[in-house]
Amino acid sequence: MIQLKNIVKIYNPKKQNEFEALHKVSATIEDGEMVAVIGKSGAGKSTLLHILACIDSYQEGEYSIDGTLVKDLSERQYAKLRNEKIGMVMQDFALVEDFTALENVMIPLNFSKKKTPNKKEKALAALRSVGIEELAKKPCNKLSGGQKQRVAIARAIVNEPSMILADEPTGALDSKTSAEIMELFRSLNEQGRTVVIVTHDPKVAEQCGRVIEISDGKIMV
Ligand SMILES: Nc1ncnc2c1ncn2[C@@H]1O[C@H](COP(=O)(O)OP(=O)(O)OP(=O)(O)O)[C@@H](O)[C@H]1O
Ligand SMILES: [Mg+2]
Repeated sequence: MIQLKNIVKIYNPKKQNEFEALHKVSATIEDGEMVAVIGKSGAGKSTLLHILACIDSYQEGEYSIDGTLVKDLSERQYAKLRNEKIGMVMQDFALVEDFTALENVMIPLNFSKKKTPNKKEKALAALRSVGIEELAKKPCNKLSGGQKQRVAIARAIVNEPSMILADEPTGALDSKTSAEIMELFRSLNEQGRTVVIVTHDPKVAEQCGRVIEISDGKIMV
């Protein structure tokens, strides 16, 4: 279970351009849920997702995963949690463009302290599960938007994380590809993984078990 209590996020604290992006946000997400996070541009969706993914800090409040306060973890435990429990699909994919699809998917395996034999096979299996194994050797800068999205998802799931966080994963896709990507997230959720998807698209939100709406850095109920 993941739990946020009164999280305050301030960008550029104590500077002239200080901006409070999240104002005392509280939320609970149970294991195995599929949740959509919706809200206008600038509402704080990506900010919230980055905190959930343990890739951004916050100024106040508590974030716990399975009862453990994230801020009590050592740097090493924190890195391990991020690498092994959380799969993040960034809004702009964040792929290494001149790496191949396979090389991109292997990045988290190479970062992991866990000894993984057959890294290449594992990365290929992740690409297969998102339907693009045949593109393994293609550099990412030669892939279409939908293909890149799949590579980003394959990279997020290659370590078999319990939680998958995706920021606008269908934002740049046509409706057919978008439906296919959603099918992929649904099947990951059916396998028992917790899925959190930031979206502007009501069709995407409809397919999630629950919707969290955020407006001006606050959760609406
Ligand atoms: N690195 C940053 N420095 C300063 N302000 C930031 C930073 N990142 C985001 N913000 C501000 O925080 C607010 C929330 O941004 P965030 O990216 O979370 O919005 P969002 O809901 O994801 O929007 P979008 O739908 O456009 O992706 C915005 O007003 C944004 O300008
Ligand atoms: Mg965003």
